[in-house]
This record gives sequence, structure tokens and C-alpha cells, in this order.
Amino acid sequence: MNTIEILHSKIINLMKKNILVIPGDGIGQEVTIWGKKVLEKIGQKYGHEFSFDEAIMGHVAIEATGNPLPDETLEKAKSSDAILFGAIGHAKYDNDPSAKVRPEQGLLKIRKELGLYANLRPILLFDELLDASSLKPEVLKGTDILFFRELTGDVYFGEKNRSEDNNFASDLMNYNRYEVERIAHKAFEAARTRSKKLCSVDKANVLETSRLWREVVQEIAKQYPDVETEHMFIDNAAMQLVKNPKKFDVVLTANLFGDILTDEASQIAGSMGMLASASIGDGTGFFEPIHGSAHDIAGQNKANPLASILSAALMLDISFGLQTEAKEVTEAVAAALKAGWRTGDIANANTPADKILGTQEMGAQVLEFIK
Ligand code: IPM
Ligand code: MG
Repeated sequence: MNTIEILHSKIINLMKKNILVIPGDGIGQEVTIWGKKVLEKIGQKYGHEFSFDEAIMGHVAIEATGNPLPDETLEKAKSSDAILFGAIGHAKYDNDPSAKVRPEQGLLKIRKELGLYANLRPILLFDELLDASSLKPEVLKGTDILFFRELTGDVYFGEKNRSEDNNFASDLMNYNRYEVERIAHKAFEAARTRSKKLCSVDKANVLETSRLWREVVQEIAKQYPDVETEHMFIDNAAMQLVKNPKKFDVVLTANLFGDILTDEASQIAGSMGMLASASIGDGTGFFEPIHGSAHDIAGQNKANPLASILSAALMLDISFGLQTEAKEVTEAVAAALKAGWRTGDIANANTPADKILGTQEMGAQVLEFIK
């Protein structure tokens, strides 16, 4: 972008936004700093007034207040223009299934409270990382998938039960028609702006919720006759995704299937450390890496900050409508990769040792490319 273009964008598109940063747990603390720094730099460069506030959630919030989502955090979230989140969880709870208060409850509650029913997970494959994946480069090259994962329904939020004698447990999987409709519309609208192909993934050969899902998607598909719609069972989709990922474009699926399928799909992009996500719905948008808190590497300057930085790019694009700025962030990430810089998770046996960076050094490299 030249000076005239920057001046022009300043005149027509100056923005004032309050961004809430919730670093959360584990490596969330280290990577979110870089998403924030990128937003600060973009703000300065383009003349947007981004102000930042911070709040706690997850294990750190349980330690401080006993509650994984303190009221104060929820209030700040509701009154902010967008949220940059890090990660949630702690090994301590993973090994203690009987714990009643759990970090993840904070994340699920904030999704529900903010009405964040659509989780967008783009599988952005940088050419430089074709050899970082365990899949063959020729299978991967050209892959570009956008997942729409439903986020506030399904077995995640259905009634949970445990019998008194402790010999039985159940989680209710349920969907309302309107819940399927609203995310389906979002996915079809996105398909229209891409290659006009949508694949809806379910388990309609077994599950009643999936039969409702498929029925509703079939009905809505009639309103988008220009989009080629396909339906696939989850087990088949999981297989096709590694066999021939290029066959997918927009993928629409339910909460649990989307959770699993997008972790699988992250391997297309080389690493979980590369994947960003946007959760949108009724109000404030919520942007977060898809990776977890990774306590095994937390505090060691090893985590990949790129997913947080790319989450910041999604915020600029989706919540603020700042496409030029978002593109600049994505290009800065691509430039850092092109220059050969890697964090451990995206390095391979051929990466020279002096090109493998820590979290901070990688974040600083990306900042350098935002001139
Ligand atoms: C994700 C995570 C969460 C989920 C966990 C941390 C509750 O895995 O965002 O994909 O299952 O939704
Ligand atoms: Mg997950």
C-alpha cells in the first residue's frame, strides 16, 4: 500500500474500538500478547483508535475467584467491540474428571452468553508450510477450506446426568430448527463469496439430531440454488479430509463434529499453532486460536504466536470490516514464513537451527513486516 492509499483509508475509515483481551491459561498468556501487539501496530499505522482492556477466564480465574468466568469478565465482554482470547484449560483438571468447577466451563458459558453460534475456522495453508505437515505436499497444495462449526448447541449444552450409584452417565445431544437455520444461512452466504460449494457434515444415518440438521440444510439450500450442496457423514468426511482435502470448500457442521474435524484439519495447515478462529453471532465477536493451553510448553517461549496473530486479522476483517488491514497482517505472517522463520511446531528436519524462533522472536518478526 502506498502513502496515498493509506491517507485515503484514514480519511474514509477511521475507527474507534474497545478490544477486550482475555489471555486465559497456559500458552494463551504468551501468544495473546502478539495478537494484541499486531492490533496496536495496525491501529497506529492506519490511524484507528484501538483501546485495550484485559480480563481473566479459565484456570487463572478459578484460582483468583473460584469462578472460571467471573461476572466482571462477562460484563466487560458484553460491552467491548471485539474479544481476543488465548486458550483455556489445565492438566490438573484433565486428570481429575470428578472436578465440579472446570476452566472449560468459562469458555462454554461466554460462547452461550454472547450468542456466539457460528465458529468460523479457515484452514489457511501457507505454501511455505507445505512440508511442515505429515500429509504429502501434492495432496495438500491448493487446499482452502472454511469450516462453519455450530457453537452453542449440541451435546455440549444438552442436559448432563450421572446416576447416584455412579454407574451411569449421559449427555443429551439436541438441536432446535432455528439453531441449524441461522448457521446454515451464514455458511451458504460465505459459500456464495467463495467457490459456491458447501458440504454439510452430519451422522444422519444414525442420529435424529442429524436427520433434523440434514432436513433443514436441504430446505435452506433451495434458497441458494447457485451453491452446489453436498451432504456427507462425519466418518466419511474425516477420511476424505486427509485423502483429498482439496475437494472441500465451505464445510458446515455441528458443534462436536466441528470440534473434532477442525483439529484434524489443522494438520493440513501444518500445525494447530497456525489455526485461527472467529466466533460470531448476536453481538460481540470472539477471536481465538483453535489450539489449547499446552501446559507442557507454557512459560518456555516455545509456543507459536501465529494463530493469535491470525485471529487478530480475523477480528479486523470480520468484526471491524477492515479488509485491507486484515490482509496486511496475513501478508506479514506469510512474509515471516517466506523469510524462513519457524517456531518449533512448524519446523522440520531441514530447518536450520538458527531459523527456529521462540514465541517472542517470531512475534517480533511478524511486527517487522508491518511497515
Ligand atoms: C475448541 C476447544 C473447546 C471446545 C474446549 C476447550 C472446551 O477444544 O474451541 O475447539 O471443545 O469447543
Ligand atoms: Mg477443540
